[in-house]
Amino acid sequence: QWKSIGVVGAGSMGSMMTFAFAELGLDVSVWDVDGRNVDKVMNLIKTSKEQFKGTITGYKTIDEFVRSLDGGRRRLFMFSITHGKPADEVLGRIKKDLKKGDVILDGGNEYYRRTERRQEELRPLGVNWIGMGVSGGYQSARRGPSLSPGGDRQAIEQVLPLLELYAAKDKKSGKPCVTYIGPGGAGHYVKMCHNGIEGGMLSAICEAWVIMHQGLGMGYDEIGDAFTQWSKSGELRNTFLLDIGADICHRRKTARGVGRGEGVDPAGGYVLDDVLDKVVQDDDDTEGTPLWAIMETASRHVSAPTLAAAHYLRIASGNRNQRLRVTKKLDIHGCRPFQMRDKKTFIETLRRAVYAAILASYCQGLELIARASKQEKWDVDLGKCIQIWRAGCIIQSEAIADMLQPVLLQDVQIMNIKLIDEVSRDLHGSYEALKEVVLKCTEMDACVPALSASLEYIKYEGSTSLPTQFMEAEMDYFGAHAYWKAGQPGEDPGLVKKGPHHYEWKPA
Ligand code: 6PG
Repeated sequence: QWKSIGVVGAGSMGSMMTFAFAELGLDVSVWDVDGRNVDKVMNLIKTSKEQFKGTITGYKTIDEFVRSLDGGRRRLFMFSITHGKPADEVLGRIKKDLKKGDVILDGGNEYYRRTERRQEELRPLGVNWIGMGVSGGYQSARRGPSLSPGGDRQAIEQVLPLLELYAAKDKKSGKPCVTYIGPGGAGHYVKMCHNGIEGGMLSAICEAWVIMHQGLGMGYDEIGDAFTQWSKSGELRNTFLLDIGADICHRRKTARGVGRGEGVDPAGGYVLDDVLDKVVQDDDDTEGTPLWAIMETASRHVSAPTLAAAHYLRIASGNRNQRLRVTKKLDIHGCRPFQMRDKKTFIETLRRAVYAAILASYCQGLELIARASKQEKWDVDLGKCIQIWRAGCIIQSEAIADMLQPVLLQDVQIMNIKLIDEVSRDLHGSYEALKEVVLKCTEMDACVPALSASLEYIKYEGSTSLPTQFMEAEMDYFGAHAYWKAGQPGEDPGLVKKGPHHYEWKPA
C-alpha cells in the first residue's frame, strides 16, 4: 500500500530509518529543520556502498518535501524529532500541508499526554497521529527496531504490514517485534515503561560492574567474561545489556570506531577508561522517559523503587561538579576492596542479585503499564509487550521473556506481576543472594542503589507487618488521617481509600 514515506528529522535515528525504509523498497523523502543534517544523510549515501531498492531524496524546504510525497493518495510520515517543543514546532510548520488520510508515525520518545493532545488536534483534519515507541538505538533503527505504535487502531492496522517488515524479528519464532499496543498515548506509554525498566537494568548492571572492579579487583576483561557467562545460560540468558556490557569491557582503543568514534590509541588502552561517571539527560533538557516513568509510578500508586533509585543515581551522577565539592566534605571514599576468600561463589551470588533487581525492574514497569491500561481503558496486552521486547530493544532478555510471556498471554487481567508463580519463586529464590550482596556492599561502601532498593522492594511488597502501622498512627494523631483496623470486615478495601477509624490520641 505504501510506496513512499516522508521522514522528518535526519538525526542519528531519522537517517537510519531513512536507509531502512529505502532498503524495504520505499521511495524516501527526508527533511530536517537543519539543512546540514539533510546534507549529512545524502553524503553518507554517496560514501557508503549500500544499494537500496527505493530512492532517497533530501529536501531543505518543507514545501518541496511535502510535495514530493503527493504521488500517492494518502501520505505516510515518520517523525524522528525531539519531544516537546521541537516536535510541536515541526508539526506547526507542516500542519497546513497535511490532508485527510495522512498518517504520521511519531517515533520520538514523547510524553504520552502530548501524543494524545496532537491526536486530538489533528483528528478534525482526518489526519492520524500515531505515537510509536522505537527502541534499540540507531543500530536497530537501521536493522530492525522494536516498535510500539499506539493510536487509532484502523490507521495502525494499515501501516502494520510495513512495520512488520521493518521491525526486528524474534530469533526463535521469527515473529516481528511490533504490535498494535492500544489507543491514545498507549504506544508511547509502553515505550516510557520500557525505558524505566531499562534504567533499572542499567543501574543493576553498572553496580555489578563496580562491585567486580573496585570490590573484587577484577580487570575489565575478566568482568566482560563474567557478563558473557551470565548471558550464556540461566535466568539472564541472552540479555542484551549484558552482551554489550561484555563488549564494552573488552574494547580497546586499537581500532577507530564507527560514526563519532574516537581515534586510535597505539598503547591500546581501554575505551572505558576514558568515560566519566556522568550520565546526563541532555544539556538543557532534563525531562524524558526516565523522569516521566518515575512521575507516573508515583501518580498511579505503583511502587517502583528500583526504577526510581536508578534514576536518582543518574541525576546525582550528572551533577558531577557538585559531587566534586561535596566529596571533600563527606569524606566517603567509595568502594573498598572486598577481600573475598571465595571470589567465584560471590560472583555467582552477585549474578543472582542482579537477576533479582532486573526481575524487580520488569515487575515495576509491567505493573505500571497494567495500572495505566486499566485506568485509561487502553486494554494493553502485557504478553504482547513482552513479545515486542524479544528483539531489537534495549531490555531484551530471552530467559525473562520465556518465563513471562506464556503466563501474561493467558492471564490478561493480571495487575501484580509478583503473583506469577515463576516470578515469586525467583524473587524468593534470589532474596538471600541479594541480601548477601547488599550487606557486603554496605560494609564496603560500594554504591548499589538499585540493588538495595530491590531488596527493600521484595521485603516490603511481600510483607504484612510493615512499619507503616506506626506511620499511620502518627498521621492519625496529628492529622486525623483515619486508619483501618486489623481483622475487621473490609480490612483491605483496595487502593488509596482512607480508613473509617479515628482515635483522639491526645485527651482534651
Ligand atoms: C531505546 C532507548 C532510547 C533512549 C536513549 C536516550 O529504547 O532505544 O531507550 O530510546 O531514550 O538511549 O535515553 P535517555 O532519554 O534516557 O537519555
